[in-house]
Amino acid sequence: MRLVLIGPPGSGKGTQAKFIVESYRLPHISTGEILREARSAGTEARKEAARYMEAGHLVPDEVIIRIVEDRFKSPDCANGFLLDGFPRTIAQANALDAMLGRLCWPLDAVIDFAVSEEELVRRLSGRRSCAACGAIYHIDAMPPAREGVCDRCGGELTQRKDDTSEAIWTRLVVYRAQTEPLIEYYRDKGILATVNADRDVEEIVAEVSGILERAKGK
Ligand code: AP5
Repeated sequence: MRLVLIGPPGSGKGTQAKFIVESYRLPHISTGEILREARSAGTEARKEAARYMEAGHLVPDEVIIRIVEDRFKSPDCANGFLLDGFPRTIAQANALDAMLGRLCWPLDAVIDFAVSEEELVRRLSGRRSCAACGAIYHIDAMPPAREGVCDRCGGELTQRKDDTSEAIWTRLVVYRAQTEPLIEYYRDKGILATVNADRDVEEIVAEVSGILERAKGK
């Protein structure tokens, strides 16, 4: 299956992606994760991308489109993928359409996670992630068994640099202006499913599974 997850920062895309890629054995292509991993490489282009991210702005389209084009060349994408956080602008969506058209890889579904702004701020301010394996926690909703330590691998839990209150507000404004128009874009293509993601993780997992089973059967 070829899937796209869209939704505002903190809507649970990464959390749901972990369940989807395990159930459907898909490569998880998170442009945010790719950029965070690349940050440590220290080249000037990567340092510039880090500055955009930490301020809560989008990294330029051409940089992101090149990253996804390169990622699609890996053999693991041939049988499907889960795109998490890409596309985020109409220009990126057009570029994705062109790439997938050339490869004869139509998308099966685009899932949009809808969450209230108040809940997004609560989730992002309390998020902690494992520096070693990427597991995601929340200090209240999904706390680890031992504070600051990953249940899965024992790694250290840290707060993302773009989860400061200033960057969170910028990210929400950027989402409304640049990414929200994609909801209409994919609705017009007839492949959009909107999920009320203001609920418990398990309830959302169940609804997403139903959507994916229906998409698989088409
Ligand atoms: P990215 O890493 O993609 O961040 P994001 O889209 O802002 O989304 P988040 O990762 O913050 O949230 P999420 O929806 O994955 O939620 P999560 O599951 O973690 O991008 C970061 C930056 O990279 C961008 O700002 C930009 O600069 C750059 N970038 C990336 N892609 C780009 C692109 N295509 N173009 C340009 N620039 C790009 O959950 C959040 C918290 O809530 C966690 O603590 C979790 O435990 C908790 N939680 C999850 N679900 C629930 C639930 N149901 N109930 C209660 N708590 C929950």
